[in-house]
Amino acid sequence: MAMLFFCLLFAHLAVFQYASANFYSDFEINWGNDHAKILDNGEQWQLTLNQSSGSGFKSKNEYLFAKLDMQIKLVPGDSAGTVTAYYLSSQGDTHDEIDFEFLGNLSGDPYIMHTNVFSQGKGNREQQFYLWFDPTADFHTYSVLWNPQQIVFSVDGTPVRVFKNKENLGVTYPKNQSMIIYSSLWNADEWATRGGAVKIDWSKAPFVASFQNFRSQACSPSSDCSVNSWYNEQGLDSTQQQKLQWVRTNYMIYDYCSDVKRFPQGLPAECASDSPST
Ligand SMILES: *[C@@H]1O[C@H](CO)[C@@H](O)[C@H](O)[C@H]1NC(C)=O
Ligand SMILES: *[C@@H]1O[C@H](CO)[C@@H](O)[C@H](O)[C@H]1NC(C)=O
Ligand SMILES: *[C@@H]1O[C@H](CO)[C@@H](O)[C@H](O)[C@H]1NC(C)=O
Repeated sequence: MAMLFFCLLFAHLAVFQYASANFYSDFEINWGNDHAKILDNGEQWQLTLNQSSGSGFKSKNEYLFAKLDMQIKLVPGDSAGTVTAYYLSSQGDTHDEIDFEFLGNLSGDPYIMHTNVFSQGKGNREQQFYLWFDPTADFHTYSVLWNPQQIVFSVDGTPVRVFKNKENLGVTYPKNQSMIIYSSLWNADEWATRGGAVKIDWSKAPFVASFQNFRSQACSPSSDCSVNSWYNEQGLDSTQQQKLQWVRTNYMIYDYCSDVKRFPQGLPAECASDSPST
């Protein structure tokens, strides 16, 4: 029964194995029309934000387990109050979601990379990081590996966060709803920069974030996902574990799993961890 369900579900997903993209083949603008710009025949694309509007795009394909890479160059200069979001989400009240959000800052001050995971409509699983490079100077690769065992967030191949499937502890895991990729650049100066203290300086508009070289590996109806190594990956190897630990030690600025004040009734079940990686 479960197998049949999955087969039917996969049959509705797109057929592709390892695709490297072009805006036109993989995405469409879903917000702010003329504020999104497609360059070089779709090889590169930009979202802009000004006082009239922000902008966004979404994927044409749906994904139910995938390995996705996107190169992003964040808004340079004074980006305080802006947020560039890049995330996967399903629809509805009990939706699943895997989020990267980049909170801008004044020139020279660090961006915050905010991450979250929702399963069955429940989020509240924030982890935040500074980056070890200037994310506005060049493109960097932000990746999500999402398989039945785990979700791994990586930056330039360095894992920064792992959310493991802990259904054995009664924690729901995103695995039965397909998701679409979304990205948007918007005004979040109510909360984003230093808790909302620094507002957008509109004299610096338009704000521009750039995207290129999207790559995806995903399941297709004709392929048996279980043969794919990314699909079967159970955890990080020891080198990746060390890199993750390096990020956590040096760049992590918030982890909900350490926020005992926020959860007076006890930390969420998935925080009771076999490793520091969740
Ligand atoms: C915002 O950008 C759009 C598209 O480029 C432009 O038409 C509009 O006039 C701009 N608005 C402001 C307030 O600058
Ligand atoms: C996914 O599973 C959950 C829990 O088993 C259920 O509540 C939800 O309705 C399911 N969603 C879909 C799309 O099947
Ligand atoms: C902005 O810079 C300040 C000062 O360095 C820092 O405290 C803050 O975390 C930075 N990022 C954001 C998004 O506020």
